[in-house]
Amino acid sequence: MFKNRKVNLLAMIALPFLLATGCVKEKKNETTTTPTTTKAATLSNDEIVIGAVFPMTGPIATYGQESVNGIKMALDKINKDGKLTKKIKLIVEDNKGEPVDSSNAVRKLINIDNVHAIIGSVASSNTLAGAPIAQENKVPMMTPASTNEKVTQTGSFISRTCFTDAFQGVVMAKFAKETLSKSNAIIIVDNSSDYSKGLAKVFSDNFTKMGGKILGAIDDYTYTQKDTDFRSLLRKVKRANPDVIFLPGYYTEVGLMLKQARQLGLNIPFLGGDGWDSPKLQELAGPEAIKGNYISSHFSPDDKDPTVQKFVKEYETNFKQKPGAMAALGYDGMLVMADALSRAGELSRENIAKAIIATANFTGITGNITIDSDRNAQKSAVVLETTAAGMVFKQKVNP
Ligand code: PHE
Repeated sequence: MFKNRKVNLLAMIALPFLLATGCVKEKKNETTTTPTTTKAATLSNDEIVIGAVFPMTGPIATYGQESVNGIKMALDKINKDGKLTKKIKLIVEDNKGEPVDSSNAVRKLINIDNVHAIIGSVASSNTLAGAPIAQENKVPMMTPASTNEKVTQTGSFISRTCFTDAFQGVVMAKFAKETLSKSNAIIIVDNSSDYSKGLAKVFSDNFTKMGGKILGAIDDYTYTQKDTDFRSLLRKVKRANPDVIFLPGYYTEVGLMLKQARQLGLNIPFLGGDGWDSPKLQELAGPEAIKGNYISSHFSPDDKDPTVQKFVKEYETNFKQKPGAMAALGYDGMLVMADALSRAGELSRENIAKAIIATANFTGITGNITIDSDRNAQKSAVVLETTAAGMVFKQKVNP
């Protein structure tokens, strides 16, 4: 039932048009091309068109794959519930985890597909690239996963159904200081990621406030996405002799880094955020290096709540894998979108945006979702331990 998404034929047909109308930014003169604002589009009356911008390929592909799995499960449920009188048509765009592809995808969904609303993306830098275009065109864009503070500050049409880094950064600073009793931390930052830089700052501010010490400056230990050899960085970290490392990165680089750290005899705990939450992390780090590290995330498949367990079972049946955070966030995000659609009245983009923002006390797999006046969700986080057998639940932290 859940076949892979169709290859985007439409995107190929649309490309010459986009190029001709100047809608596609060329890499060379990115700053000189201004985005095109469309006239009030006529939206389909027969169906509800939802655009989805996710990384289906590239170094953060599991985020997109899990999200779309979750979204498809939600659509199945929505169709069965019959609360919506019109059918939802989902158009998935692969942004490859890249900001440029993300803004092109948002333009295409608005200008060619005439979407009612957009769900996505995952990496904050990707959502930050697409959101200004959605805002400018007054198209509701709701991210199930981007946690960087700036995302929803883009404007009134941009919202999220997850917590922010201002929250998860405090959760991990507290966990390091109070639960693990660590006091000398080094922070390793992915310089190419708004998420990593923002989360590093929150951790640093709060760990220091609690009496901990950050060794070196926040930009002393950095890397870039797609790096594969972290050994000289890790040797430098080892020489500084911290008792804990905070690494707010994405799973591909994190997995390799953990492996290389243990090979160099750097045996202290690494802490991270939701970006580690991927079925690929264990495989990349290997059974030894994965042990004894901790992350903050949105969801634990160990949660005893019967609705969570029902979701976990169904997901496993459909996809032969345990659901990670992104699967649960994608599922909840699509259900919140459908709930908003059912409350919106006449389905204009404006009404849909208002209905999304009015979401209150929605019971999701990832917690209770209420969107606040800054268009962020106030929700609990979980701390998980990474083990060779998967992520193990440690604690739940309420906002
Ligand atoms: N919060 C991350 C970001 O903003 C994305 C993410 C969410 C990754 C959930 C994995 C799981 O970049």
